[in-house]
Parts: sequence; structure tokens; C-alpha cells
Amino acid sequence: MGNGQKTVLVTGGAGYIGSHAVLCLQQRGYRVIVLDNLVYGHRDIAENVLKVELIVGNTGDRPLLDKIFQDYDIDAVMHFAAYTYVGESVTQPERYYRNNVVGTLTLLEAMLAANVKAFVFSSTCATYGEPQIIPIPEEHPQNPINPYGVSKLMVEQILRDFDHAHAFRSVMFRYFNAAGADPAGNLGEDHDPETHLIPLVFMTALGRRESISMFGTDYPTPDGTCVRDYIHVSDLADAHVLGLEYLLDGGATDAFNLGNGSGFSVKEVIEMSRKISGKEIPAIATDRRAGDPPALVGSSEKAKKTLGWQPKYADLEAILTHAWQWHTKRHSV
Ligand SMILES: NC(=O)c1ccc[n+]([C@@H]2O[C@H](COP(=O)([O-])OP(=O)(O)OC[C@H]3O[C@@H](n4cnc5c(N)ncnc54)[C@H](O)[C@@H]3O)[C@@H](O)[C@H]2O)c1
Repeated sequence: MGNGQKTVLVTGGAGYIGSHAVLCLQQRGYRVIVLDNLVYGHRDIAENVLKVELIVGNTGDRPLLDKIFQDYDIDAVMHFAAYTYVGESVTQPERYYRNNVVGTLTLLEAMLAANVKAFVFSSTCATYGEPQIIPIPEEHPQNPINPYGVSKLMVEQILRDFDHAHAFRSVMFRYFNAAGADPAGNLGEDHDPETHLIPLVFMTALGRRESISMFGTDYPTPDGTCVRDYIHVSDLADAHVLGLEYLLDGGATDAFNLGNGSGFSVKEVIEMSRKISGKEIPAIATDRRAGDPPALVGSSEKAKKTLGWQPKYADLEAILTHAWQWHTKRHSV
């Protein structure tokens, strides 16, 4: 049976990571339906670039979900839809629990009712909290330090309970820092507001910001700035398709880290971005931010071993080159 006969519902498919997953699914011959409320997603990317069937709506809308499962013969769901601003989750936890937990539970209930029981979930390294060892393995204790991380951990728990009770199988991917852009230059990162380092660096390079802030330069790291694990978004997308195929082949519920296994400091990112863009990119040292651990790096050996995942763009240069290509295309006048 060919892949062309499988249909995947992708929630949040008009967003950054979801749009790259849609592209990857389309390239592998899947039929894709996107559900996105467009609060942060981009209609032009979904409709004009991906040319995917877009349903504008909310994961918390049970009647809409029931209609989608009735209208389409869906085999599996990839669930990217969530609110993702850590700082906002501290000041407005209700918004995060409502959307990320209640919205997801509503989707899971609709799936159960439609007897669709394969689910690929965007979890996060934020579920680990302060790392006790580096690189972080999947067995590391999960003690998130903000409501965003807690909301993702709650869903992980719900998914394990659903497996127990309903033989509902899921793959939970705990991403480290998603970065980069589609190498062909058609998709990329365009969050509003933007909080991620690499887009902020390139927004500075393009004169859309005056400078980039380095939050803390006195950390116990080689150059004093925070070290993070950047994983190319196309490699993330690839892992999602492998995770989906693992589930469709009968694989058991499990959680997998998705990262590079090696970290890069804020200064290294800025330095290499200057080389790639040929721009000055003014950087300003400022105070540490509360809750930022010095280093966050994950081990992704389990995903490689179990899913056969092989990241193609594991070096920082490829990640930054593709991101720069996207930013110049999307934001140059
Ligand atoms: N970007 C990262 O580095 C990173 C790291 C770890 C985990 N994640 C997770 O990956 C997923 C995707 O992140 P992203 O960076 O692509 O974010 P994004 O904001 O670009 O994409 C999320 C999409 O979901 C949509 N959405 C949100 N709530 C919805 C709802 N209730 N119903 C329908 N659509 C809804 C938004 O409009 C947006 O298009 C999120 O679940 C996020 O928590 C991201």
C-alpha cells in the first residue's frame, strides 16, 4: 500500500515547524489537511506556498473537529498547535493551560470518538527544567519551571494515560531549539512577536532591529554566554514523518529528544551570522534572564536508533545559511 493513501491532519501547520512538516509529508506522498487558527500562523504560506487544504479553526472546537474527522478519512494527527511564549505563560498561565492542555484534550477526545489513534506530539526540552546532566537523555527527570513547560508535560501524561486506557499510541518529540529554514528558501521562521535568537540576529542584520541583546555574559560556559542545542527545522520535519511511520507500523508510545547533541553559544551564533550575512550585527551584553540555564543540550541517540533518524544539517553553518536566505527573501524590500 502506498503512502499516497494515508491522510494526516496537521494542527498548527501554518506555523513555523508545522509548515516544514507539511512540506515533508507532501514530498513523501501523504495527503495533508491543516487545522490552524492563524493566531500565529500564516495563511499565505499554507495556501500559496504549500497549497495545502487549510481549515481555519481551533483545536478546542469539538463540533468542528467532529466534522473534520467525518469529512476526511484521517489516519493520524500531527499536533503542532500550541502557544509557545514562555514569558507570557508565566504572566497568563490560563491562556496556556486553556490552549495547550484543554485544546489538546478536546482534540484527543475527538480522535477517540473517530477511532483515530496515532498521534505525533510537539513536546519540548522545557519539560526537563534545569538540566542535571548534559547531554540530557529522555530519562532525565521532568521538572518544568514555567507554565508553558508544565502544559506540555501535562499533555505527555495525558497521552500515556490514553495509551493505557484506549490503546491510543503517540510519539512525543521533545525538541531543543528549532532553527534554520527550508533549504529551497520557500519556508522559514516568521514569529510575531519574535523571541528566538537566530531570527532576532538576522532581523538586526537587515536593520529591522538596532541590536541584539546577549542575556548574560558571565555564565560558566567557554565564552560566558548561554549554550543551546540548535536543530534544523527540516531535520525536525523529517523526524516527524519517521515518527508517524513508526506509529503506522504499530510502534509503541514513546518520547524522543530531537536535538543536535552539540551546543553553540550565543556569541558563536552571532559571530557566524556576521560571517554569513556580511553585516555588522551590533550585540549588547545585558543582564542574565531569570530561568535561563547556562547550557541546554540533548542526546538524540534514541531517535536515531529507534526511528532511523539521520539529521542532514547538523552544523551551525547550514542552519544559519538557510535562515539568512529565508530572512533576506521574506523581509528585504
Ligand atoms: N520553535 C521551537 O524552538 C520549539 C521548541 C520546542 C517545542 N516547540 C513546539 O512546536 C510547536 C510548533 O512551534 P512553532 O515554533 O512552529 O510555533 P508557531 O507559533 O509558529 O506554530 C504554532 C501554530 O499553531 C497555531 N495554533 C496555536 N493554537 C492553536 C489552536 N488552538 N488551534 C489551531 N491552531 C493553533 C498557530 O496559529 C501557529 O500557526 C509548538 O507546539 C511548540 O510548543 C517549538
